[in-house]
Amino acid sequence: MYRIIPEPPEVAPQIDILLDRAFGPGRRKKTAQMLREGQRPASGLTLIAIENGRLVGTIRFWHLRVGGRVPALLLGPVAVDSDERSRGIGAALIRRGLAVARSQGHGAVILVGDEAYYRRFGFRAELARRMTLPGPVDRRRFLAMELIPGALAPAAGRVHPAGQPEPRRARRAA
Ligand SMILES: CC(C)(COP(=O)(O)OP(=O)(O)OC[C@H]1O[C@@H](n2cnc3c(N)ncnc32)[C@H](O)[C@@H]1OP(=O)(O)O)[C@@H](O)C(=O)NCCC(=O)NCCS
Repeated sequence: MYRIIPEPPEVAPQIDILLDRAFGPGRRKKTAQMLREGQRPASGLTLIAIENGRLVGTIRFWHLRVGGRVPALLLGPVAVDSDERSRGIGAALIRRGLAVARSQGHGAVILVGDEAYYRRFGFRAELARRMTLPGPVDRRRFLAMELIPGALAPAAGRVHPAGQPEPRRARRAA
């Protein structure tokens, strides 16, 4: 049976391999990547699924701000090893991530993905309709959910990254 644990730093190279396999070489060109580039993921919101010492899944969340004022999280990427799909690992990673986010007091989460999959967790395109992303997106795949009811009521306009800079950038800036 797999376990979901916080992402240990030394697993980052294996996560990159899993993400390259899951999304292909174009994964760094996605619009969502513009919201992650140069940012540190949200603290406590990088999780992995591990089974018999082997990485089988990953999820990360990132800090955002909508319209310059409403805080939210970006969910993604989430990926499960292709040999281990349809065992509920993806859902378990998402549910655990959302539970941690809720416990930390976050109000809302957005993502780019298939509503057919994410609807079960409460994500809806309707909730993202007044927001825009910094690159092209199929509006049917631009989804949001509220962890605190009403958190997205004032959320309109451009979505911007709002995390801490990655350590390397921080050093360069210093
Ligand atoms: C999406 C992903 C993380 C789901 O992981 P998982 O562990 O297989 O998920 P679960 O076991 O919780 O759910 C699997 C079910 O969701 C369905 N599902 C998966 N992706 C789906 C999608 N894009 N749209 C609709 N249904 C989807 C599967 O068909 C499966 O259905 P089944 O239970 O009837 O077999 C995994 O398929 C993956 O890594 N895909 C490649 C990367 C990716 O697309 N990530 C999401 C980007 S937004």
